[in-house]
Amino acid sequence: MSQQQIGIARAHANIALIKYWGKRNDELFLPLTSSLSLTLDAFYTDTKITFSENFTESSFFLDGQKMPPQEVQKLQRFVNLFEPLVGQLPHFQVESYNHVPTAAGLASSSSAFSALACAIHDALNLDLDSQTLSTYARQGSGSATRSLFGGFVEWEKGQDDDGPSSFARPIDDACHWDIAMLVVVVNEQEKHLSSREGMAHTRDTSPFYHLWPEEVAKDLAIIKEAIAEKDFQKLGEVAEHNAMKMHATMLSANPSFTYFEPATMNAMNAVRQLRDEGFLAYITMDAGPNVKIICKNSQVETIHERLLQEYSPEQLIIARPGPAPRKLSEEEFHDQ
Ligand code: ADP
Ligand code: DP6
Repeated sequence: MSQQQIGIARAHANIALIKYWGKRNDELFLPLTSSLSLTLDAFYTDTKITFSENFTESSFFLDGQKMPPQEVQKLQRFVNLFEPLVGQLPHFQVESYNHVPTAAGLASSSSAFSALACAIHDALNLDLDSQTLSTYARQGSGSATRSLFGGFVEWEKGQDDDGPSSFARPIDDACHWDIAMLVVVVNEQEKHLSSREGMAHTRDTSPFYHLWPEEVAKDLAIIKEAIAEKDFQKLGEVAEHNAMKMHATMLSANPSFTYFEPATMNAMNAVRQLRDEGFLAYITMDAGPNVKIICKNSQVETIHERLLQEYSPEQLIIARPGPAPRKLSEEEFHDQ
């Protein structure tokens, strides 16, 4: 390896419409079910990695802040995944900027590990296709698997303990879809229980969990039909039902837990009210209290106006289908 190798990439976050909630192999990040998401334009991570023989230790700066050793170790573990391809790597410096609230159930880890995988790929001059690279991103954070592509993306669960068989594939770039996601940020603080811990606890203790894989299989078949038929209502209904079933498994865990907060319930009621008035608006939620409204792009501005009566402009973020990751120049990266 030459003295210094640099890679820079931008990857967009994705929000699952059919959720991933539980692993069959924690070490390899192999999921118990397949899942399906929409990549979003408004939320992304820009990451630069520099490998250098001159560094005496590895380091990680997130949004300009030096991160503690346990966060550096997480990245070290991830970087080590690439060593079988290139041999032993020197220390690294990672600089990353999240254009998405971190650890608030807004999928920062999906864009984070997808951007890091792409930056490493670039720095090491590798020639992996996106599907293969998604199997690396997966081992940083499961949801990152799906951020290797734009639009609607499926993450196939794969077989047994076979890591390469669990990858992402694009379903539809969503460019011709009348779809948007309006995020209602009721609380952007970091959550107390990570998705990782929450899903393991649910898998291990909920007596209802065994129903989850069956429900996901049914919901995936329905949403794929809806995408093929461009049937927005069918897509919204199955996505909302799937998210609520996931949250129901958490209530049935022992001890029980929930990411819902009082403000979450109010936002959910606002969506139901909009629906009663004839808007096509559906709820999805992840491992945090924030509510995402799946709606038509042609109705999103009107819905936004309506919600401004109850929420501040900063609490309402409109997102639309987003693209696959791309390389960034130094200038673009420093222009944060
Ligand atoms: P979220 O709901 O935001 O995806 P998670 O708990 O799944 O929350 O993941 C958040 C974690 O992902 C952070 O605590 C941090 O360890 C990691 N992370 C977030 N952003 C970055 C980044 N830009 N680069 C590397 N790791 C990141
Ligand atoms: C509720 O991908 O953050 O957002 O694989 O342990 O890093 P790890 O978990 P993560 O979990 C995402 C859970 C979810 C649903 C989803 O994105 O499919």
